Amino acid sequence: MLPAIRRDPVGVFMRGALRFGDVVYFRIGPRRGYLLTNPEDVRHVLQDNARNYHKSPLYDKLRLFLGNGLLTSEDDLWLRQRRIAQPAFHRQRVTALAGVMGEAARDAAARWRPFAAAGQPVDVDEEMMRLTRTVVVRALLGADLGPFTSTIDQAWAIVNQHVGESFWSLGFTDGWPTHRNRRFQAARAVLRGAVDHVITERRRNPSDSDDLLSMLMSARDEETGEAMTDEQLRVEVTTFLLAGQETTSLALTWTWYLLSQNPRARQRLEDELDAMLDGRPPEYPDLAHLPYLRMVIDEAMRLYPPAWGFSRQALADDRLGGFQLPRGWLAFVIPYVLHRLPAFWTDPDAFDPERFSPERSADRPKFAYIPFGAGPRQCIGNQFALIETQLIVATLAQAYRLQLVPRHNAEPWPLITLRPRYGMPMIIERRTPARRPSQPPADPRR
Ligand code: HEM
Repeated sequence: MLPAIRRDPVGVFMRGALRFGDVVYFRIGPRRGYLLTNPEDVRHVLQDNARNYHKSPLYDKLRLFLGNGLLTSEDDLWLRQRRIAQPAFHRQRVTALAGVMGEAARDAAARWRPFAAAGQPVDVDEEMMRLTRTVVVRALLGADLGPFTSTIDQAWAIVNQHVGESFWSLGFTDGWPTHRNRRFQAARAVLRGAVDHVITERRRNPSDSDDLLSMLMSARDEETGEAMTDEQLRVEVTTFLLAGQETTSLALTWTWYLLSQNPRARQRLEDELDAMLDGRPPEYPDLAHLPYLRMVIDEAMRLYPPAWGFSRQALADDRLGGFQLPRGWLAFVIPYVLHRLPAFWTDPDAFDPERFSPERSADRPKFAYIPFGAGPRQCIGNQFALIETQLIVATLAQAYRLQLVPRHNAEPWPLITLRPRYGMPMIIERRTPARRPSQPPADPRR
């Protein structure tokens, strides 16, 4: 399947699942494995029998560039790093960061004013990247990127393309001085420079803040009392920059795209925002009263899950859906496919946020919808991302309406993450939130 998978991984997995059912055998180059689409089997691999699985060798490509950080490490190292970082993502800590998220969203709203006035298209994918990068850098690293601010997003794009395309390659040309490899090395150097800048600045001005960066820098090994090595610290900061910025920005980009294609849903969202917020900026407590907003975001991540697919490798033989999974074989879990299976989703390709209403979700198996993964390796930043995306959409959708540039091809591109292959140029129109009708003046005759 290697050439077909290289051309169209999402299509190959989707067709396999539709044609052959819950467990589909794949041979991809030298590797063998199963695509799993029964939520019970997904639960088994990611959660119930997670100890029997490591992230698959496909992550080696990511490891080559990210090193062994929280996203890519295993066993004791993973557990230690997860324990160090976890407190930064407790609900209370994350809700306390809502102010930073809201402020960044308002800055973006102000930045868009001239674009709206000129009616010129804006690359919304790039805008969202900038916005979520600002949030991660400010909220978790308490930093700014100094001279790297203007180059880092382009560097990520190059790295994502390089690593994403090489996922399925056998790596024969990895070390060659080709144009592609040189471009990748240059992008890596930019990222390394940015991360070093953040760490050096914090060392120069030690702050008494208790953000994620402080936690990483002050953590001490329980047995040896030693701090993380500089290299491990670098790896973790890079991991959080990548994992925190890229996926969240794509969730937002696809949300804007889907809203522009579904004017009725957009209208309903605007009505909810106008009625609840009455033109003021949203704050964290408002989110509990904006159910449709949350459903829109859940539905966008169903259709375009930013982490579109992941995989595991069995450490020992296992049994799945009545089949033997031998040691060393892979298990593919592909949210893009799970999220569109007709068995769990009526009219699966339609954008229908209300399918996430409590009534319509009640009978759906939990593991049929896993944009943040599941089990011990579930995304550490899921609350952070959900609060951030809701605040950003609520802020910007009050002030603007985004229209996809006519005839633009918004084809998804499954790299490490699911990017829009040709970007997402959109026209930004200003809108005035409808004010709640004010109370009629009291009748003076009474
Ligand atoms: C919409 C936004 C996001 C999506 C869709 C997403 C998705 C995911 C998924 C699917 C995984 C598990 C991958 C696997 O099992 O192989 C994961 C892991 C991870 N995510 Fe996220 N993520 C998002 C936002 C964030 C944010 C905001 C952060 C941090 C600020 C973050 C940090 C991480 C880290 C560190 C891991 C590795 C956790 C571990 O293995 O212990 N993510 N994410």
